[in-house]
Amino acid sequence: MSLPVGRHEFEPAKGRRRVTVIGAGNVGTTVAQEVARRDYAEVVLVDIIPNLPQGKALDLNEAGPVLGYEPTIVGTNGYEETAGSDVVVVTSGKPRSPGMSRDDLVTTNEEIVGVVTRAAVAASPDAILVVVTNPLDAMCHVAKHASGFPKNRVFGMAGILDTARFRAFIAWETGASAKDVGAMVLGGHGDQMVPVVSATTVGGVPLTQLASEERIDAMVERTRKGGGEVVELLGTSAWYAPGAAVAEMVDSIMLDQKRVLPCTALLEGEYGIDGLYMGVPVKLGAAGIEQIVELELTKDERAALDASADAVREVVGVLKLG
Ligand code: NAI
Repeated sequence: MSLPVGRHEFEPAKGRRRVTVIGAGNVGTTVAQEVARRDYAEVVLVDIIPNLPQGKALDLNEAGPVLGYEPTIVGTNGYEETAGSDVVVVTSGKPRSPGMSRDDLVTTNEEIVGVVTRAAVAASPDAILVVVTNPLDAMCHVAKHASGFPKNRVFGMAGILDTARFRAFIAWETGASAKDVGAMVLGGHGDQMVPVVSATTVGGVPLTQLASEERIDAMVERTRKGGGEVVELLGTSAWYAPGAAVAEMVDSIMLDQKRVLPCTALLEGEYGIDGLYMGVPVKLGAAGIEQIVELELTKDERAALDASADAVREVVGVLKLG
């Protein structure tokens, strides 16, 4: 008698809610592992490459006994096993190579995100969609269009990652714990993103009291180019920090935590921007985006946000939205 290679050969895990991750590449597998480690959901990993999601799921299941989570990860090339998911994370698509901007990926990834979104929502009509594929802001428009879901159930991950990068640089600069650095990065997920210095503190003390203007400018610049810095070193884009950032969003939704986190949300008048996905602080809970939080910005931050919106609009203008 042959042994089953994974949970998918059994009945689906009863009594567990389900999180689907589409794309079993670097980011998707990291999301799957981070969520599996929380041990509150069955994770279904989907990819078009035969055997890849099955192999990743088997490996992740076999890590469970060591790391202390139940081996309930499913790998599949179809959508049957994803049925009834509470959250669907979309990571399928091409990543950047050195010299590429995120926007260079738009045509290829529009096609992929459109196809996987339609298949995923047919199986899980009540799910919340978290988009990760780049160019992120434009891909949120694609997922919104393909799903027909309301805006509170379609949004993207970028701001937590960009903010985490800024926080790491601030921790190094000030010698303080990264846990005590509070920061916020707004705008599109491109080089014109807006690290909001006026909302950045270390243990409650404004960053402007702890570092010179010149050092702060350097950290802002490094944050804006943070994705590209990793691409230059690795030849492909980052996955550990992005995967951890997505898991923080999944936690807030699945556990109804109501965290206020920077996410890519459809703005309809907030921040004076209409009909565009952009990174802003939102309250995330069981219903998805439950509130968009409006920060007071300085004149320069406001101008930078408008410039970032123009850059996003340009990429969104290239979409076919078929
Ligand atoms: P990867 O190449 O390691 O994985 C992508 C996976 O998608 C591959 O395994 C591929 O087979 C799969 N795929 C392609 N078409 C598919 C389809 N139709 N159905 C199912 N699976 C399909 O790439 P990686 O590094 O995981 O990056 C994934 C995406 O996430 C890229 O677009 C990247 O730019 C983006 N990204 C976004 C970040 C953000 O902050 N929003 C951060 C890091 C990456």
